[in-house]
Amino acid sequence: MSDRFAGKVALVTGGTRGIGLATALALAEQGAFVFVTGRSREALDAAAAVHPGHIVPVMVDASKADDIRLLQSALAESRRRLDILFANAGGGSFIPLGAIEEADIDDVFAINVKGLVLLVQQMAPMMRDGGSIVLMSSITARTGTPGFCLYSAAKAAVRALARNWLLDLKERGIRVNVVSPGPTDTPGLAALAPDAEAAAGMKAMLSSRIPLGRLGRAEDVAQAVLFLASDEASFINGVDLAVDGGMSEV
Ligand SMILES: NC(=O)c1ccc[n+]([C@@H]2O[C@H](COP(=O)([O-])OP(=O)(O)OC[C@H]3O[C@@H](n4cnc5c(N)ncnc54)[C@H](OP(=O)(O)O)[C@@H]3O)[C@@H](O)[C@H]2O)c1
Repeated sequence: MSDRFAGKVALVTGGTRGIGLATALALAEQGAFVFVTGRSREALDAAAAVHPGHIVPVMVDASKADDIRLLQSALAESRRRLDILFANAGGGSFIPLGAIEEADIDDVFAINVKGLVLLVQQMAPMMRDGGSIVLMSSITARTGTPGFCLYSAAKAAVRALARNWLLDLKERGIRVNVVSPGPTDTPGLAALAPDAEAAAGMKAMLSSRIPLGRLGRAEDVAQAVLFLASDEASFINGVDLAVDGGMSEV
């Protein structure tokens, strides 16, 4: 434990596994009081059990407006104000052009864009002046990937939202930054492949395209989020920080 975030209150959406869980645990280890959201009660309770008293689970679907209103009520009842908001919940799947259904567009944009917009809109009034918002994008927003157009476009929208929100929130000194991971070894990455064998092949192929020769770890991304959320980044506003071992530069 350290006291880097002592006295700080954070909210991490999609904090039951992968990057969100790693970030919630790192914040709690460094002294923050962390609200964590997800849809699985069991996984939420398991996350909270790691740091009892420091992690508070809130069961919400981050893609649904009603659930985000419930989250706002839970926070209001706690009488705590947020210092850090990490809008992490998201995901997608490979759907090639030609096979895209209307429902696919709705699903991908509901979790990655609509839910994120509603979250920031509802939570901003509950933040302290001088707080920090970190939005989850992806390096797939910068370059093309076969079959990944919906996800890529949704994550590009996140980057655009950050540029606008830092102006909308400037009177309150709230910073808005983006983190863009490259391929990161999480359950969400493995789920892009149809089975374990295909997932292993996909990970090997992706690793070979990363100058540092390996996939990212959830903890690598968590450390970047903690930096952007911390006072050490107090003059950093509107950046899109790639955490990708150099992949998007080559
Ligand atoms: N892994 C990568 O390579 C990579 C690269 C770039 C960007 N990203 C982005 O990073 C974020 C986290 O990815 P990850 O790889 O850590 O994913 P993951 O392992 O699939 O974890 C996703 C988390 O989000 C939650 N979640 C998903 N949909 C949700 C919903 N509708 N409502 C509430 N919670 C929801 C899940 O919890 P429940 O299932 O309990 O709801 C889980 O805690 C995503 O936005 C993803 O697009 C990932």
